[in-house]
Amino acid sequence: MQILFASSEVEPFAKTGGLADVCGALPRHVARLGGRISVVTPLYRETRSRLHAPVCTAEFSVTAGTRTFAIQVLTGRGDAEVPLYFVRCDELFDRDGIYESGGAAFADNHLRFICFSRAVIALCRACGMQPDIMHLNDWQSALIPAFMRNQAAHDPLLHRCATVMTIHNMAYQGIFAPEAFDATGLPRAAFWHPGQLEFWGQVNFLKAGIVNADMVTTVSPTYAREITTPECGCGLDGVLAARAHDLAGILNGADYAVWNPETDPLIRQRYGSGDLAGKQACKRALIGRFSLDPELMERPLIGCISRLVDQKGFDLLEESFDGLMETAAGFVLLGTGEKRYHDFFTRMAAQHPGRVGVLLAYDNTAAHEIVAGCDLFVMPSRYEPCGLTQMYSLRYGTVPVVRATGGLADTVRDCERDPASGNGFTFEDCTGSALLDALTRALACWRSKERWQTLMQRCMACDFSWDVSARAYLDLYRRACDKKRGLEK
Ligand code: ADP
Ligand code: GLC
Repeated sequence: MQILFASSEVEPFAKTGGLADVCGALPRHVARLGGRISVVTPLYRETRSRLHAPVCTAEFSVTAGTRTFAIQVLTGRGDAEVPLYFVRCDELFDRDGIYESGGAAFADNHLRFICFSRAVIALCRACGMQPDIMHLNDWQSALIPAFMRNQAAHDPLLHRCATVMTIHNMAYQGIFAPEAFDATGLPRAAFWHPGQLEFWGQVNFLKAGIVNADMVTTVSPTYAREITTPECGCGLDGVLAARAHDLAGILNGADYAVWNPETDPLIRQRYGSGDLAGKQACKRALIGRFSLDPELMERPLIGCISRLVDQKGFDLLEESFDGLMETAAGFVLLGTGEKRYHDFFTRMAAQHPGRVGVLLAYDNTAAHEIVAGCDLFVMPSRYEPCGLTQMYSLRYGTVPVVRATGGLADTVRDCERDPASGNGFTFEDCTGSALLDALTRALACWRSKERWQTLMQRCMACDFSWDVSARAYLDLYRRACDKKRGLEK
């Protein structure tokens, strides 16, 4: 089985969030299990410096409406486990920023990802590939199943290839003004209606993927159920419910080659569950880095690393922050996003010097330092398709306090409600007081050293390695192939 995996973000080449982590790690694990998988992604400005001695392996052009764009396909040299193809079109991708610059989305994002999607299909022929599966991720590559359905009748190569569409976040659908439809080049009669790309008078790229792919997946079992309801479906719940038979939730994994306190080169001192001295050294270093009160060594330190957006429940944290500051805990935040939250956390750092450390930046090293150096990790998400940072903190013995939604509900169980196997603290209601209640319970547990040690050990023993999920994807690829063959008969 040959698989072509397309994504707009792949670690370590370009990243804005968990999509990159997943698209960097999953293909490697599929390959280790014997899948013949290649990855294709755009060549952004920031990608260039991370690419070692690239070679141009194909050149062609793609059209978007009345415009034609010259494309080069570059491959990186080296002994990578997974062949990587970079779609180069400098006019579209050689910019500061991946989707936006200075907080404003690029006005031609529809064109950029129409061209990327067209290029993914064209490179199969150009590079002599005949995939059995095309695995697409999020709206940026979600037009591909529609393009394939449209072209399949005239193209035997596409006719036998099954498509799998993975949704990492329903809130980002790639919705554009109706004029963008013409740029897709799809025939109006077949594709411009509510059963296809049309969405309340606009063009919806993600919907194209959901409707046309052979199988649809999302990144946790709970989120797979949630997105078929009006609360989490972001207007596409009906469309998803109609595909319930072909919709699967496969939990993301954690890449323990990168997120492991025993081997992590980015933290002050490595440690494992048998010897936690290193964790104390990491805490001391973190307290120093954020110029916090050294007395916090004897008090609990709570960490948070996130895009600062409504999804992540920062309004709940705002609501509960005064209450949190009445406890003994310190707080460290790393994130970038909406100005409202930048202002809030800047204010909190000024109001509570020595107690609250804030870094409004994207900083991978700081992310590792916080995951290692804190005692607790908070994620009060309003919704969370999967969430990776709670899995990372578990491995570092940093106990998660999370809202029980989506993938958070699938990975963290409350240790008071489930004393035998709980690995953190959870709350249900989307309110600041419910969050504060969970944090207060966690801080009380921290004070009982023996209970806390047992909990930390249990957290560190949790295993979310990619192997299990990669196997589930391979099974799903087989199902998609069978389905495709069944349809062909
Ligand atoms: P999402 O994809 O919704 O942002 P995830 O928990 O799936 O949430 O993944 C977030 C990823 O992005 C993690 O690898 C996390 O460490 C990283 N991350 C988020 N914000 C920052 C930041 N400001 N600096 C460094 N890494 C960050
Ligand atoms: C999205 C989701 C996050 C998930 C990530 C990777 O960005 O918000 O919950 O972990 O994708 O699938």
